[in-house]
Amino acid sequence: MSTENESLDILTGLYHLGYKKAITTPHIFNGVYNNSYDTILPGLERMKTAIKQSGINLELEAAAEYYFDEFFLKYIKNETLLTFGDQYVLFELPVMSKPHQVEDAVFEMTLKGYKPILAHPERYPFYQEPGLVSLEKLKSMGVLFQLNALSLVGFYSPKVQKFAHQLIKNNWIDWVGSDMHNHRYFESFKNAIQNNYYQKLCESGNLLNNTLTKQ
Ligand SMILES: [Fe+2]
Repeated sequence: MSTENESLDILTGLYHLGYKKAITTPHIFNGVYNNSYDTILPGLERMKTAIKQSGINLELEAAAEYYFDEFFLKYIKNETLLTFGDQYVLFELPVMSKPHQVEDAVFEMTLKGYKPILAHPERYPFYQEPGLVSLEKLKSMGVLFQLNALSLVGFYSPKVQKFAHQLIKNNWIDWVGSDMHNHRYFESFKNAIQNNYYQKLCESGNLLNNTLTKQ
């Protein structure tokens, strides 16, 4: 998000769509998005205040979307990852090539009590081409999969959309995220949640999103 006003606008929009809670996961990608505890947590407090002042009843939490690089591996080792809910860690892979150490890192995260969630599995060409079979290993290791809702309306590409459909048909999606970067994303998000596949996903009983709201 470029400004706090834009963030507040979008959070208000989500609230009016019926959402009760939002978890923001800013990118932590060294050299590209230099976020850390020190930028994310004060930002969360500022947004909580803004929400309160605007009178909307939306719960807000923050974690991160970690880019898989040597810094991420270090944070795992030092046990300094930002988590949400019950020790969930959201991470993404480089788009063009799958790092060799993904399984090792997952193993280490699990050992340390973290619950890894792979962001948008449908968007990686190295998983799309071979298909579901290429994600079996991570699935068997307990990695949870988070779909970007926008994938369902062809926001990224037709290939992404097709693979997103396959993942849903096979009941492999555990989480759904918005990938909300700005107003343009919000407009497409409104379409995405009308989509049949999104509805199917919500009705599947597989999604863990609702486990994060106060009952
Ligand atoms: Fe991402």
